[in-house]
Amino acid sequence: MRGKTYLYIIMSYVFILFIIGISDLFASRDVNKEIKIKFGELLAEEYGCVNCHSPKIVTNGQILIDEEKIFSGHPQNNILPDFPPELVSPGKWKGLYTADMTAWGGPWGISYASNITPDKKTGIGELSLESFISVLSLGIHSSLTRKIMPPMPWNEISRLNEQELEAIYQYLNTVKPVRNKVPESKPLYDNEQLVGK
Ligand code: HEC
Repeated sequence: MRGKTYLYIIMSYVFILFIIGISDLFASRDVNKEIKIKFGELLAEEYGCVNCHSPKIVTNGQILIDEEKIFSGHPQNNILPDFPPELVSPGKWKGLYTADMTAWGGPWGISYASNITPDKKTGIGELSLESFISVLSLGIHSSLTRKIMPPMPWNEISRLNEQELEAIYQYLNTVKPVRNKVPESKPLYDNEQLVGK
């Protein structure tokens, strides 16, 4: 009888240790994930992703990021007048950009900052981690039809290592998905570096 009681006590003890071990394991995983996401957020600020990829609101003369639409790219309703390519050439103007920094015109054409929220239809919700990393490290647009145009600084971003790019990806996947279909960027000249051509 005594032996059995000891056995129960030992078994309960082992069971409790087991439960503590398991919950610790999960807890530390969550902590790791949170640290990674925070790291991604810091990188997204450091590399200016948030500035170019977010619509802005103007209050008291200040231009602030529209937190409700953070990372949703050039607002689809903001239709811009035609871009005058003859104004941008050596010796003339280098380029134009909107006050919210989401649309840019230059010798390359017009580029609109992409929606990089996790929205599945208009953002990067369907973009796998592997594709995200290859977009940013090779500078090839996710449509796989062309190179990414300026001023997207993919060249600089491509110097980040895979863990850093993954942290940005994880972070972007935590922001609110915003449905916003950014207009197609328009290259001014035939991009001779088209993929597959
Ligand atoms: C100076 C402005 C600017 C900065 C800074 C910037 N981007 Fe961009 N980004 C753009 C523009 C403009 C485009 C659209 C280019 C095009 O259509 O070819 C773009 C395109 C992209 C795309 C391509 C989407 C696709 O479907 O292929 C991704 C992904 C992206 N940016 C992520 C980021 C991340 C992450 C950062 C920060 C680490 C960042 N961008 C910083 C302006 C910027």
